Amino acid sequence: MHPITVDNLSKSYGGQMAVNAVSLSVDAGETFALLGPNGAGKTTIIEILEGYRKRDSGTVSILGFDPQTAERAFRERIGIVLQSTALEPDLTVRETIDVYARFYPRPLARDDLLSLVGLADNAQKRVSALSGGQQRRLEIALGLVGDPDLIFLDEPTTGLDPDARRNIWNLILELNQFGKTILLSSHYMDEVEALAHRIAVLVDGQIVAEGTSHSLREIHGGYTEIRFHVGNDDLPGSFPAPLRQITFIERGWAVLEARNPTPVLADLTKWAFSQQFDLAHLSVTQPSLEEIYLTLTRGRRSERDGRGAK
Ligand SMILES: Nc1ncnc2c1ncn2[C@@H]1O[C@H](COP(=O)(O)OP(=O)(O)OP(=O)(O)O)[C@@H](O)[C@H]1O
Ligand SMILES: [Mg+2]
Repeated sequence: MHPITVDNLSKSYGGQMAVNAVSLSVDAGETFALLGPNGAGKTTIIEILEGYRKRDSGTVSILGFDPQTAERAFRERIGIVLQSTALEPDLTVRETIDVYARFYPRPLARDDLLSLVGLADNAQKRVSALSGGQQRRLEIALGLVGDPDLIFLDEPTTGLDPDARRNIWNLILELNQFGKTILLSSHYMDEVEALAHRIAVLVDGQIVAEGTSHSLREIHGGYTEIRFHVGNDDLPGSFPAPLRQITFIERGWAVLEARNPTPVLADLTKWAFSQQFDLAHLSVTQPSLEEIYLTLTRGRRSERDGRGAK
């Protein structure tokens, strides 16, 4: 049984679709990431799966429960880190954990939990005196206090400095090594590449791509980008027409995109050599996950295609 199975899930707010026929399943021990622009529907999906929000239609099974009707036995097995949490500023870190621990039958030992999230030295500090990153770690600790099998993390590292982000990544990797299943949302490509086994890209409430970072590259980014610097100059008149058709100029760079780069490179270098044209800063690269994400979320390639060099 998958810990998370979602089939044809939809939700609208006042007639506007926020989640539109989403289906996905997450394996036990897997880290699954939802990626998508602001307003794509990530938080809405996560909150429906947590049982915080009602769906309009579709089926959802979380650890065998329907979150909409499940109560205590369900809550005891999931851990939740919301996109933003209102912590009580006057409580200390230790007191905050103790308050939450009471809700669970087998909470983790407080000191173990504080060490796990890297707050052992701050146990006596008031919440109001914690830095942003420390507060986020406390929020993560509160999501873990019941020793859940399944953890929901809604943008766990947004707004944190690079060092704090890496600390939280390590924590998430460690949780995964303990066999926890994790559903994560994020705006950061490096984060999902480092943490997630599989990624779903969400746009306007729909999944537009799903797979491993490797398969997303294969399927959606199966082209090679060849670029060289032209500065303020246009391409010379002798530039071969077949190459011109796949070339566009972007801020002083000529950019060619090719599914099969070998013949393109051969034609390009042959032309440059015969014309003694300097292919300045010539580079040949695969698109990054971030470029694939941008392609998927704002139709960047179709925009570019319309701007081909004439
Ligand atoms: N309580 C609400 N009432 C009305 N509309 C809402 C509500 N919550 C979310 N929405 C709308 O639903 C859509 C999806 O929002 P959601 O918060 O799920 O997006 P998100 O992917 O989590 O975005 P972000 O990256 O900004 O956190 C947006 O258009 C948003 O304005
Ligand atoms: Mg959100």
